[in-house]
This record gives sequence, structure tokens and C-alpha cells, in this order.
Amino acid sequence: MKITVRSASETDLPGLLSLYSELNPDDAPLPEAHANAIWADISRQHGRTILVADVDGTVAGTTDFLIMPNLTRGGRAILFVENVVVSSSFQRRGIGRRLMEAAVQLGQSANCYKVQLLAADDEYVHTFYEACGFKALAQGFRRYIP
Ligand SMILES: CC(C)(COP(=O)(O)OP(=O)(O)OC[C@H]1O[C@@H](n2cnc3c(N)ncnc32)[C@H](O)[C@@H]1OP(=O)(O)O)[C@@H](O)C(=O)NCCC(=O)NCCS
Repeated sequence: MKITVRSASETDLPGLLSLYSELNPDDAPLPEAHANAIWADISRQHGRTILVADVDGTVAGTTDFLIMPNLTRGGRAILFVENVVVSSSFQRRGIGRRLMEAAVQLGQSANCYKVQLLAADDEYVHTFYEACGFKALAQGFRRYIP
């Protein structure tokens, strides 16, 4: 099994949407035109990177990064991580770990002082992030907007 971690391109959009449907199975699928318009916005956004883990031509996992320029901490930036998912049939093969290593490498190359994420409230997800070198150092707060 050859895992290649690379930036997502427009041709990966169906694969990404399929992974997102595994991440959030209760969400209605995005209409194609809407998904294409959002992809165009993402592609233009400075500091935004969606990575995919490509396994022999299949989009098996993904994560989404945003680098936020920052005026504290000596002006070092912050890298935020969202939408981490590995397709169920590819889990426990090191793909998630590869994606998180890529997050840290990207953060280092962009002079970020931290990589930050909110973990789902599942014990195995916490085990995963800890195995990837992350620590539960802060309490997350979230307010959904209806
Ligand atoms: C969490 C997730 C991304 C992990 O991806 P993955 O590719 O399976 O993870 P890896 O194979 O790289 O695992 C790395 C380490 O994390 C830990 N880990 C991963 N999945 C685990 C599980 N189900 N149970 C216990 N430990 C686990 C292990 O220590 C593992 O190392 P090991 O396999 O050598 O024991 C994946 O399970 C997933 O997509 N889950 C559904 C979506 C989700 O919850 N995303 C996170 C939202 S915050």
C-alpha cells in the first residue's frame, strides 16, 4: 500500500465529499454547483491547505489547515486543523498519523508556534491525537450558529 500525502486538487473534490459524508453522515450532500463554488473560494484563500492521503489512486483520508498570521508570540503564526478523516476501510494503517505529521511540518515551515485543533469527544480520537504528539492542554468551547 503506497500512501502519498499531497495537496488536494479540484479532481479530488468527489473523493473529499465522500470522506466528509463519512465524517458527518447526517449532513445532506452539498449540491455540485455549491460544492464547486466553495472549492473555488478555498483555492483562492491565502494560508489554506487541504491535504489528501492518496492510496493507489484512492482519496483515503484528508485534513484541512488554515494558517493565521498573528501579532502575539513574537509574531509567529498559528496553524488550525479541521475536518480530519480517514475512510473506515483505510483506518489503522498510519494514514491519520501521516496527515498529522504533515500538519506539523507545514506549521514549522510557516513559522507557526502551535498547531491547534478540537478533538471529537471519543476516547479513541483522543488516543489518536496523543499518539500523534498532541496534548489535551486546553478546554474547547464551541457555540453553534443556527
Ligand atoms: C481518528 C482517525 C482520523 C484516525 O485515523 P487512522 O488513519 O485510523 O489513524 P492511524 O492509523 O494513523 O493511527 C495512529 C495511532 O492512533 C491511535 N489510534 C488510531 N485509531 C485508533 C482506534 N480506533 N483505537 C485506538 N487507538 C487508535 C493508535 O495509537 C494508532 O497507532 P497504532 O495503529 O500503531 O496503534 C480515524 O479513525 C477517523 O477518521 N475517524 C472518524 C472521523 C473522526 O473522528 N475524525 C476526528 C475528528 S476530531
